[in-house]
Amino acid sequence: MPMKSVIPVPLPHQPYEVVVASDGLDHLGAWLAAGDSPLVKPGQKLLLVSNPAIFKQYGDRTLNSLTQAGYTVETCLLPAGERYKTLSSIQKIYDAALGFHLERKSAMVALGGGVVGDMTGFAAATWLRGVSVVQVPTSLLAMVDASIGGKTGVNHPQGKNLIGAFHQPRLVMIDPLVLKTLPTREFRAGMAEVIKYGVIWDRDLFEALEAAPRLDQYRYLGDDLLHTILTRSCQAKAEVVSQDEKEAGLRAILNYGHTLGHAVESLMQYRGVNHGEAVAIGMVAAGKIATALGYWTETEATRQRSLIEKAGLPTEIPSQLAADDMLTLLQGDKKVEDGQVRFVMPQGLGAAVVTGNITREQILAAL
Ligand code: GLY
Repeated sequence: MPMKSVIPVPLPHQPYEVVVASDGLDHLGAWLAAGDSPLVKPGQKLLLVSNPAIFKQYGDRTLNSLTQAGYTVETCLLPAGERYKTLSSIQKIYDAALGFHLERKSAMVALGGGVVGDMTGFAAATWLRGVSVVQVPTSLLAMVDASIGGKTGVNHPQGKNLIGAFHQPRLVMIDPLVLKTLPTREFRAGMAEVIKYGVIWDRDLFEALEAAPRLDQYRYLGDDLLHTILTRSCQAKAEVVSQDEKEAGLRAILNYGHTLGHAVESLMQYRGVNHGEAVAIGMVAAGKIATALGYWTETEATRQRSLIEKAGLPTEIPSQLAADDMLTLLQGDKKVEDGQVRFVMPQGLGAAVVTGNITREQILAAL
């Protein structure tokens, strides 16, 4: 029985929907074209941006669905990987847009993981001062995080995501079945963000994850649990983002585990540990600080750690990293405000708060 959920993202200036639907790829065109005021008018041009591996697996289905709905589609393939998340890749999208005569009412469609989504979103934000973008995420991480909320951009040689723009999508279409071909390590990385939502926002999600026999591989989850995980995580992200689109306050709680996580990623020079693994390590460390400061109990910290272990994710800071180096790096983090490192602390299970009142000694004790 096909499953479908529609999650609204009720932003005042541009509300949109996240659709979680089995065989969503095959319904993408129809969804965009439906109704009296379609999201993108049939007959319009669509620039489909992807990478060669994803396109090989899912390109034909996506193209068929779009062309059958009456769109004219051209494809732009970019090399896969974080190291290609650069302005020169954006230039390739612009070149394709120019060659294809993409117009203001045309749209770009991102078919891929977070790198493809962030770059396509940024190109769409800037091409002709802004054309529509449709996000079709193919990794768990992109499904539950990057595709929703409009953060787009590329890396600068000196730092991740330093160049970017907020540009909300017209639609996010999630087809859970594509996760079947996602490498296990990437699936687990996405699970770190799912656990994050359970801790900071949705206690029921946390408990649903606890009740699952296994979380470390797609094949052990089953369709119902996967659907629950995707819809509740997207719902959490949609609720947070629609209350604070530009991260003036609340949205910063989505950075739970990321402050220390980014320090780990950066000191490892983005090798040997991926984003989700670093976030998992960061959540365990933040959990220790939270216990020491009374934001939650030892039991709650242990429950978080067990879930992270169940998802096959690491919990310890790599032994080669020195605590002092981590602290120095934290001072340069984007989350520093008025010289104080801003930390997200869980408040029991299912809520969180941002605080600047954490001392060097308290961080060192957790490291
Ligand atoms: N990934 C964090 C955010 O979208 O705000």
